[in-house]
Amino acid sequence: MTENTKNMQEEIANLVEKWKGKEGNLIMILHELQNYYGYIPRPAALELSRALETPLARIYEVITFYNFFKLSPPGKHTIALCMGTACYLKGAPVLLNEIKNLLNVEEGQTTKDGLFQLDVVRCLGCCGLAPVIKIDEKVYGKVQKSQVMGILSEYGNHNQEG
Ligand code: FES
Repeated sequence: MTENTKNMQEEIANLVEKWKGKEGNLIMILHELQNYYGYIPRPAALELSRALETPLARIYEVITFYNFFKLSPPGKHTIALCMGTACYLKGAPVLLNEIKNLLNVEEGQTTKDGLFQLDVVRCLGCCGLAPVIKIDEKVYGKVQKSQVMGILSEYGNHNQEG
C-alpha cells in the first residue's frame, strides 16, 4: 500500500465518520473530496464505496447526476463557452466545435496535457457581446470562429498528444 493510498483511506474514513447517519452524507462527502482533490479520483470512489458499503455504481450515479462533480483533474485554464440563447443564436455551436476540434476535447473534459478544461455554461450575463467565451476570468466577446485559435494560443502551446 502506498503512502498516498493510505492517506486517501484515512481521509475517507474520517469523512465517513464525520457524516455518519446524516442526511445526504454521500453528496457531502463527494463535495469534500472534490474540494480536496479538485475532482473525484477513481481510487477515492472505490474506497468510498467500500467504506460506505454502497455499490460503486450508485456512487457514480450520483457523481454523474450532478454536473458539479468532475471525474478528471481540472485543467490549468478553464474555458467557459456560453450556450445561452443569445450566444447560441450568434454562433456558439460553431465555436464549440472549433474548440473541440482544436483541443481534441469534449465538453466537461480536460485536455490530455492538462492545459484546458472545456465547460459549456448558460448565459454569462453579457449577452450584448454574444457569442461569448470566458477563459479563467477573461471575457472574449463577439468571437468569430477564425479568432478561436489565436485566443487559445494566448494560454500557451497546447500539445494534442498530451
Ligand atoms: S447568452 Fe451568452 S452571455 Fe448571455
